[in-house]
Amino acid sequence: MKNFYSNIYSFNKKILRKTVKILKEGNLAGLPTETVYGLAGNAYSKNAVKKIFKLKKRPRKNPLIIHYKSINDAKIDVILNDDFYKLYRKFCPGPITFILKKSKNSKITSLATANLNTVAIRFPKNKILNSILKLINFPLAMPSANLSSKLSPVQASDVFDDFKKKLSIIINGGISKIGIESTVIDLSEKPKILRPGFISETEIKGILQKTFSKKKSKIKSPGMLKKHYSPGVPIIFGRKPKSLNHAYIFYGKKHKNFKNYFNLSKKGDLKEAASNLYKTMRKIKKKGFKKIFINKFPKKGLGIAMNDRLKRASK
Ligand code: TXA
Ligand code: MG
Repeated sequence: MKNFYSNIYSFNKKILRKTVKILKEGNLAGLPTETVYGLAGNAYSKNAVKKIFKLKKRPRKNPLIIHYKSINDAKIDVILNDDFYKLYRKFCPGPITFILKKSKNSKITSLATANLNTVAIRFPKNKILNSILKLINFPLAMPSANLSSKLSPVQASDVFDDFKKKLSIIINGGISKIGIESTVIDLSEKPKILRPGFISETEIKGILQKTFSKKKSKIKSPGMLKKHYSPGVPIIFGRKPKSLNHAYIFYGKKHKNFKNYFNLSKKGDLKEAASNLYKTMRKIKKKGFKKIFINKFPKKGLGIAMNDRLKRASK
């Protein structure tokens, strides 16, 4: 069924077939994942991937994550190693992206990997997305479905806000459960976290039981270097606002119910807070607040990923 926005569709068999057709024809679709919504296209098609970069206004040197339904499919394009298998067994399908060496016979278009000799791969945990992956014989290149440098989308209407009707289909899969992007780990050499995410470095180290690279990454996650995740409203850390034009984001129950106060989790749960962060920042922008005041999150687990996004958003 179509809803208010004419290119947002609820999921059913007919829409599944329509989406598969669109992707097979080399066109793009806005799809839900458990982390954030993605802008999906055939990773084997240069043309489809070109459209992704163009629509997002993404610099061509920033490579995309390739999404697979199974290890068997991924094997064609990348060289899997022991560290990968250990982490796969523990966390996949789920919110973790692995950087691995590209295989000799890889079919991924070099545009998707920005000509690097590595590929970022992920096995998403979302029923809608996996039912689509099962019906196509190519993996999906899929960055977050937002304009480059803006906040990632956590619901279908967020995707619409950035792309309007430039996309022929956006599937409504409800609000993304996790609400923050996957952890990106480089396994192409000594392990190194390139982007903190829902799965923490501590958890990963617990599985791999080895030391991580301390090197500053060279290019690696190019997208991570610049301004990113911008809500379009300045962010100020460590203080409360004095004006009603300014919003305050916090979590836990210790604050009053002012109109410019936004609570990410009344029970003070960091996971819930993370899942509400982007949604809340978008809401604040829409309501016309001029500034966002927020305290840094605790420097462990998910708090690290949230602080990382806030720091970039404030640049
Ligand atoms: O949760 C997620 O990962 C979401 C959903 C849609 O799957 N996707 C996502 O994609 O966040 P994107 O394009 O917004 O972020 C991908 C990150 C970028 O920082 C990019 O630089 C990095 O992954 N990346 C991709 N390929 C890489 C490679 N070969 N080497 C190093 N970093 C890479
Ligand atoms: Mg992104």
